[in-house]
Amino acid sequence: MSHLTLDLTHTEPFIAPEEWAAVELQAAAAAQLLDSRRGPGADFLGWLDLPVRYDRAEMRQIKAAARRIQRQSQVLVVIGIGGSYLGAKAALEFCQPTPPLWPLPSRKKGALQVCFAGTNLSGTHLQQLLDAVGKRDFSVNVISKSGTTLEPAVAFRFFRQALEARYGSEGARERIYATTDRARGALKTLADREGYETFTVPDDVGGRFSVLTAVGLLPLAAAGIDTDALLRGAADARVRYRSTSIADNDALRYAAARNILYRKGKLIEMLIGYEPRLLYLAEWWKQLFGESEGKNGKGIFPTSAQFTADLHSLGQYVQEGRRHLFETLIDIETPQHNPTLPATHDDLDGLNYLAGKPLHFINEQALRGTLEAHVAGGVPNIRIGVPEATPYYLGHLFFFFEKACALSGYLLGVNPFDQPGVEAYKKNMFRLLKS
Ligand code: PA5
Repeated sequence: MSHLTLDLTHTEPFIAPEEWAAVELQAAAAAQLLDSRRGPGADFLGWLDLPVRYDRAEMRQIKAAARRIQRQSQVLVVIGIGGSYLGAKAALEFCQPTPPLWPLPSRKKGALQVCFAGTNLSGTHLQQLLDAVGKRDFSVNVISKSGTTLEPAVAFRFFRQALEARYGSEGARERIYATTDRARGALKTLADREGYETFTVPDDVGGRFSVLTAVGLLPLAAAGIDTDALLRGAADARVRYRSTSIADNDALRYAAARNILYRKGKLIEMLIGYEPRLLYLAEWWKQLFGESEGKNGKGIFPTSAQFTADLHSLGQYVQEGRRHLFETLIDIETPQHNPTLPATHDDLDGLNYLAGKPLHFINEQALRGTLEAHVAGGVPNIRIGVPEATPYYLGHLFFFFEKACALSGYLLGVNPFDQPGVEAYKKNMFRLLKS
């Protein structure tokens, strides 16, 4: 089987060989610290073993619940935010990209549609979701590790009320699946009292590292995504990115390259994709790196762009603006669909020279041309090649980034597993709400 490839060729003009030599020992030390499980945040390293040491009994329960949801409903409303949402959303978009005119009545008959609620406090969005579900049969998977997060708790009130109005309290209970802490929190208390089927967010796995727990796996299994392949991809990545030497470990090499660039003033990393299916993977990645590294006045600012669309908006800045950026490109090498460009008899747009060419070829030339221009303009580029957009490679990619992120945090000298800063706005918001 082919693998993910990490190509650092286009960082070469920006990183001198002695800079690699200087970071080598530090990178090895970061990898050893992670392996020792004694570094900062060591209580949150459960994700390292998830691909192989997951709870088999819970996996069976997830698959059975997924089948039940498919039988009982046309729509699954997944309620969660941050780490309790982005992994499943990213995987769903990656594996089953939303058609541009969703929802189409002709979408595969009988297929469950998954939508997400509790990701904001907009009444308009919530009402639109309730209206979109309309008269269709639906189930709810409410996900919150703490069980006290405002946005999902608010959305859950509405959808629980809608379920109870439609199916009665007994019927609603059979359609609510709660994913939360094993023992604590308001959601756990409610689920136990009401008798909802529950799934666990392990104590030693933080939200942004939880996609391979029930948090991600239940919605994905319900959507018909091959969760075994996802876990297999992650398990292979776990072996592949084990070494403590940058020569043999691409996750460590990626972490080290980021660290060198950061020290040289490249403070912003843009995750770039040429396939819209990567949009939410970038959102997941932003949370992963942003919450893990952005603390103690340090950290690369993670952002993303969708090319070629954003070349028509951000392209000017990337090419000629302040030189504090680098790009990480996710390049999906084999397209799912590859239509060829039709010829026209008048050729008014002058594109007949491309007639008969597959769109992937055209997209690739845009990628190459952009890469060349941005590198020449002073923007280093890290390329991650993904052979195909399958659950297997996605599982691999999830684990690659998680491992790289943990290593990057240790290299930077921060605890990559806490997020003390996210409490500040909440304190103010609750003070205002209660005043
Ligand atoms: O990483 C984090 O801690 C946050 O982004 C959380 O994932 C998010 O706030 C959701 O938290 P919870 O699952 O407790 O509702």
